[in-house]
Amino acid sequence: MYAQKANAPTRKPVTVPSLLTMKAEGRRIVMLTAYDASFAVQLELAGVDVALVGDSLGMVVQGHASTLPVTLDHMVYHTSLVARGLGATLLVADLPFMADRDVPHALEAGARLVGEGGAAMVKIEGASPHILDIIAALVERVIPVCAHLGLTPQSVHKFGGFRIQGRAQEAADELVAQAKAVEAAGATLLVLEGIPTVLGERITRAVSIPTIGIGAGPHCDGQVLVIHDMLGITPGKRPKFSKDFLAGRDSVAAAIAAYAEDVRSGAFPAPEHCFD
Ligand code: KIV
Repeated sequence: MYAQKANAPTRKPVTVPSLLTMKAEGRRIVMLTAYDASFAVQLELAGVDVALVGDSLGMVVQGHASTLPVTLDHMVYHTSLVARGLGATLLVADLPFMADRDVPHALEAGARLVGEGGAAMVKIEGASPHILDIIAALVERVIPVCAHLGLTPQSVHKFGGFRIQGRAQEAADELVAQAKAVEAAGATLLVLEGIPTVLGERITRAVSIPTIGIGAGPHCDGQVLVIHDMLGITPGKRPKFSKDFLAGRDSVAAAIAAYAEDVRSGAFPAPEHCFD
């Protein structure tokens, strides 16, 4: 039965432990967001390693100005849609704003994203003491965790906008300390967003878990983009760290395949997508 499914894996499934192997072997990890089954199938066919149901859906799908209005119900719903389109690609889902207010709520959210949504891992922003407790509690309950540091979008009001983080020496040192702390708490993947290239490299060397950059330079162990940005359909100015992979190509499939190839070869991100 399983082998007859349209999305039955035609390659070895990506698993949480295999991400660590990829870092150890120097194979770059390709991650891309998806919010529904149709795009999930495109990721699967292009051989993307990790699909992220990001709370960026609040901005690119729902039309909000930030990720803050996204609820746990929204996340569970979109995660379940994406799960139906995937085969070998690993599925990661975001804990939305305030689902991480305490350990019980985070465990409930993690259980729903994995149990109802079909995610293999959940992503959580920050590294404050209560977030470290939540990471440890999720991992202890066998829910793998992807940490997210740097320009964490749920902190938009604290930062006063979507601003590059870790430019000053003290802030950079603090982010290195946070990266070590989330690893010690049990995270097995770490998204680094909106930080200088040198800091992305420093953190990638400082931890043994894979780092996935988005505006964090080419030295991370993998890259992630929001699919609407890399298809050039996000209204307004495209973020500096993104690239329109559909430009000059005739299909979404070709654009995603080109992104995957450029991440694996190291051609993306180029200097113009990075912050000094
Ligand atoms: O929500 C999201 O899509 C994300 C990525 C930008 C990493 O967190």
